[in-house]
Amino acid sequence: MPLVDLDRFDFLYANRVKGMRSAATRDLMATLSRPGIVSLAGGFPDTRVFGAEAFREVSRNVAADSAQALQYGPTAGLESIKDVIVDVMEAEGTRAYGENVFVTTGAQQGLDLVGKVFLDEGDAVLCEGPTYVGALNAFAAYRPRILHVPMDRAGMIPVAAREALKKARKQGIHVKFVYTVPNFQNPAGVTLAAQRRRELLEIAREFDLVVVEDNPYGMLRFEGEPLPTIAALEQEGGETDRVIYLGTFSKIFAPGVRLGWVHAQPGILHKINIGKQGADLCSSNLSQMLIHSYFTNADWRAYVKRLSGLYKERRDAMLDALSEFMPDEVHWTHPEGGLFVWATLPSYLDATAMLPQAVKRNVAYVPGEGFYANGAGKNCMRLNFSFVEPEKIRRGIELLAEVVRERMELRGSLERGAEETRSGTCPATRPAARAPGR
Ligand SMILES: Cc1ncc(COP(=O)(O)O)c(C=O)c1O
Repeated sequence: MPLVDLDRFDFLYANRVKGMRSAATRDLMATLSRPGIVSLAGGFPDTRVFGAEAFREVSRNVAADSAQALQYGPTAGLESIKDVIVDVMEAEGTRAYGENVFVTTGAQQGLDLVGKVFLDEGDAVLCEGPTYVGALNAFAAYRPRILHVPMDRAGMIPVAAREALKKARKQGIHVKFVYTVPNFQNPAGVTLAAQRRRELLEIAREFDLVVVEDNPYGMLRFEGEPLPTIAALEQEGGETDRVIYLGTFSKIFAPGVRLGWVHAQPGILHKINIGKQGADLCSSNLSQMLIHSYFTNADWRAYVKRLSGLYKERRDAMLDALSEFMPDEVHWTHPEGGLFVWATLPSYLDATAMLPQAVKRNVAYVPGEGFYANGAGKNCMRLNFSFVEPEKIRRGIELLAEVVRERMELRGSLERGAEETRSGTCPATRPAARAPGR
């Protein structure tokens, strides 16, 4: 079959498509399945840990009620799974209510539905810089402005958030919600400090915004103390109004079931329900029943603990290798959980331009640029540690460090060349370049 010429229908496509772009992470997938490549680019949990036998058992339980598993279900989800979701949220310290739970096809659909319900063209979303690329993609269909707020080691900086909101207000831009990934953020691996969670709520009250708390990784903590969710903090203050909490089974069970949820107040859920009817009618009964079977019959907390232990080992391997191999000019975050480290190269390096060279050397990462809507992050990269064994991570970082060093040296020699041209020095008389340190 001939390749489809996408441009041929340019005159027919909706305007909203113009703001949409394919996630670099998705585009990379084909390259990454190449044998021999150490992919630090994926965002995959390690589903190999679950095992065929455990899967067989939950499937057998579901098969006992095949008629329901194969049937359509309610748009908001089966009642039985809502009880599981309430338990999962309570395990993270958030009091949840079945009537406030709405089942979605992954948290990804939650993001799309939030966009659908709140955003008109030209409205704005305040989010971290960098932020989750899948959220940028989901929101892009509704053509909002994205206002990135810088982060430091404690997450989104409240002063900067307030400033951005004041500026938007002055310009007549309607910011509809703050989007945050508070724990071990994708892509930066950073966690929003407890005090900042409170401040963010205060800011949302002050500017009358909704807070979208996207928390896929909170339970994958392997260091430090768990922090209260923003939803829990709102409850503490006697309110359950403006936080829309997005949860998912992707990281504590398996992404293949494509099941997540929204926990929010009934008014918002009503709108989301209408949005979902137009999207997919309902999420899969089969998936909901698989999860229900596992979460009510097996020790899911032990499974999450096992996953966290494994990811900790891999995180440690990555941090150790970064310290051992990377040049001093490269910096990275220290995630206390989750799946990602964010590395920042010297400002003159372009991680997107460097990727083909890295892939040629059999290592891959996600360039930072895709995690911003404004072209920032060019000298940054996201590194995943959850899916690759420690020895491979070490080798991958070693290869990556070689590529970074070569780029830095190339830049050094170009600068020296320019200097010599300016001063008229003959390159042959130049002292030999110093051997790379460490
Ligand atoms: C921050 C964040 N939100 C949402 C999602 C989507 O998750 P799901 O598999 O539940 O759709 C991801 C997936 O990686 C994510 O990292």
